[in-house]
Amino acid sequence: MPHCSLRRTALAWATVAALLPLTAAAQAPAKLKVGLMLPYSGTYAALGTAIENGVRLYVAEQGGKLGGREIEYFKVDDESDPAKATDNVNKLVKRDQVDVLIGTVHSGVVAAMAKAAKDTGTMLIVPNAGAGVVTGPMCAPHIFRSSFSNWQPAYAMGEVAAKKGHKTVVTITHKYAAGDESVGGFKEAFEKGGGKVVKELSLPFPNVEFQALLTEIAAAKPDAVYTFFAGAGAVKFVKDYAGAGLKKNIPLYGPGFLTDGTLEAQGADADGLLTTLHYGDSLDTPRDKAFRLAYAKAYKLQPDVYAVQGYDAAQILGIGLVATRGDITKKAEFAAAVEKATIDSPRGAFKLSKAHNPVQDIYLRQVIGKENKVIGVASKALADPARGCKV
Ligand code: PHB
Repeated sequence: MPHCSLRRTALAWATVAALLPLTAAAQAPAKLKVGLMLPYSGTYAALGTAIENGVRLYVAEQGGKLGGREIEYFKVDDESDPAKATDNVNKLVKRDQVDVLIGTVHSGVVAAMAKAAKDTGTMLIVPNAGAGVVTGPMCAPHIFRSSFSNWQPAYAMGEVAAKKGHKTVVTITHKYAAGDESVGGFKEAFEKGGGKVVKELSLPFPNVEFQALLTEIAAAKPDAVYTFFAGAGAVKFVKDYAGAGLKKNIPLYGPGFLTDGTLEAQGADADGLLTTLHYGDSLDTPRDKAFRLAYAKAYKLQPDVYAVQGYDAAQILGIGLVATRGDITKKAEFAAAVEKATIDSPRGAFKLSKAHNPVQDIYLRQVIGKENKVIGVASKALADPARGCKV
């Protein structure tokens, strides 16, 4: 039956033709679009760059691919400006149609990112901003954080300050979610330990006119000062605190953002400061040494906590993509893989909590020369309370 066999042949060819593009696609899947929303200008510019460096280093170590997908970057400078955050995240989600968002640094900006992630179902990995809302009321199966919550290093420092026997503390910070939550975490532990926060000072982000507030601290004569500043704000605050003559009389404590990535600029004014953080410069583990060497080789710079958080954001993405064989739309599979994974971080291995925030050791560090030297563990495997998260 020649007619019939002709039809069969034609059909077979049609099938082959239909399969061809698929086969080609299977060999070279589309690139995975990663949207980096970070500050590249302003007070936190250096933090954004370090995070991007960390992300790129991990991806480069995997040969430029995660889960078989080549990575393509789309970048937006969010300027750490909450007023522009929704427009900025829409540039990545709607205009560039990215598959995953990585960002950001500023707690007031990340809230808009979490909202966009929830509204559109886009995967979000937060490589810094500690806002409680991200792994609290807005927690979601497709939202992850590779860094910390504002509460974590602050709570650990509250315990340290109380154990040192300090009774009165004045706090000073930029007035926004990160500063407020940091002071809240410190106060919770410090007052539980028998201390009292006697005054809470603040100034609007990103102002750095500290003089009037330093005069108030001198007049209040507390046993110690607790502060949250980061990036360029931290550089100026540490210098001004010493310049006002306060450093020699009133110990200054804070989460390690105060002295991370800032020591070159702070010079001797940072000497001896005690801070708490989930990373330090002298961990001396094979994992950290390898990371620091690779980072220094790639960027001719020493890494800091922000670089580690970027690196680990890429690790989290990689774990999810390997498990889904590159199909990031398989969100449940992605989340299940990340939830059961141990992240092999330069800071020390950690797992994510149910709310997707790292459960991690908080180190006590002291500035010695140009290093944040780890001198102990302030709080072992500290988990954020994830207040308001329903998962
Ligand atoms: C924040 O806004 O959450 C924030 C910013 C800079 C830091 C830490 C936290 O170093």
